[in-house]
Amino acid sequence: MTTQAFGRTRDGCEVELITLKSKHIECMLTTYGAAIVSIKTRDSKGEIRDVVLGFDSVDAYERQDKYIGATIGRCANRISGASFTLNGETYRLEQNEPPNHLHGGGKGFDKRVWTPHPIQDGVRFTLSSQHLDGGYPGFMDTEVRYTLNGRELIIRYKAVSDMDTVCNLTNHSYFNLDGHDGGTTILDHMMKLYGRAFTPVTGYECLPSGRIVPVDGTPMDFRSFTGIGAHIDDGYDQLRFGNGYDHNWVVDGELGSLRPAAEVYSPNSGILLRVSATLPGIHFYSGNYLDGCPCGKGNTMYYKRCAFCLETQFFPDAPNQPGFPQPILKKGEPWEHTTILRFEVHEIRY
Ligand code: BGC
Repeated sequence: MTTQAFGRTRDGCEVELITLKSKHIECMLTTYGAAIVSIKTRDSKGEIRDVVLGFDSVDAYERQDKYIGATIGRCANRISGASFTLNGETYRLEQNEPPNHLHGGGKGFDKRVWTPHPIQDGVRFTLSSQHLDGGYPGFMDTEVRYTLNGRELIIRYKAVSDMDTVCNLTNHSYFNLDGHDGGTTILDHMMKLYGRAFTPVTGYECLPSGRIVPVDGTPMDFRSFTGIGAHIDDGYDQLRFGNGYDHNWVVDGELGSLRPAAEVYSPNSGILLRVSATLPGIHFYSGNYLDGCPCGKGNTMYYKRCAFCLETQFFPDAPNQPGFPQPILKKGEPWEHTTILRFEVHEIRY
């Protein structure tokens, strides 16, 4: 692990840039938002490609509102009505996507400066969050560990609280397996999701109805490799509501066991990303609202659908959906989950 100064936040906090290296991957992270800044790996021709979106300055990280690369907390995705009830108490959160709450609010964990600690093959970021921070109950200590192991970037989350609370941590990286600056969209990428069912939304607010619906016969069926762009503009209601894909799939298998969740392959670069996780869901977002602002690394403009996110998570609005697995961190019991991003190179994959 090597560390260098990245700059200062508007209120004067020092921010660092940390580099991890394995034989196959070089990954840069920042203490601002415990975010992934870059992931460099070789394509099928041996050329190095940086396959995630990111920014060159702390100022751009402070200004961006797309959660690019960041750790999301306390709760990923939306909470309807920006409130939930736990143990008989109702908690009100910031309506940063009125009238709902998105990704922990406008000053969620993605907008905090985390403390870095070197560990074997990686770094551990820690953050303390006060009782009622953002409206959430309980004093919560959080850590995110990033380690490299050959072709894998392993992300381990751990949180503890002195009261029962809601906790749903994820990473919000945007990937383009041809490179963040390749000038291409992700519509030609081929994707497989290990999800036989998804959680449909009720309308343009992208809130789940609470139902869990099989993907059979719908454009949500990615059980075998399918082009991301193959059906994205079909006149299917769910895709109209999301302006493309912006949905949660139920990952096959058992919550808590590490199992495959997704694979994405670029026929152009030959890079294959495999995502596995212990979490119950995976949110596939096709970058529908990227709008070029602020400018990305090396002055690259990040436009609509130039990258995709695969956020391993508890389902959206789960605190208000009793039929969904609950993202509850119990007082004194650690909340622990793992996501692994594995980068391989293949000539033909489907
Ligand atoms: C959400 C999108 C949102 C994006 C950026 C995704 O996780 O599902 O609706 O636009 O994050 O905020």
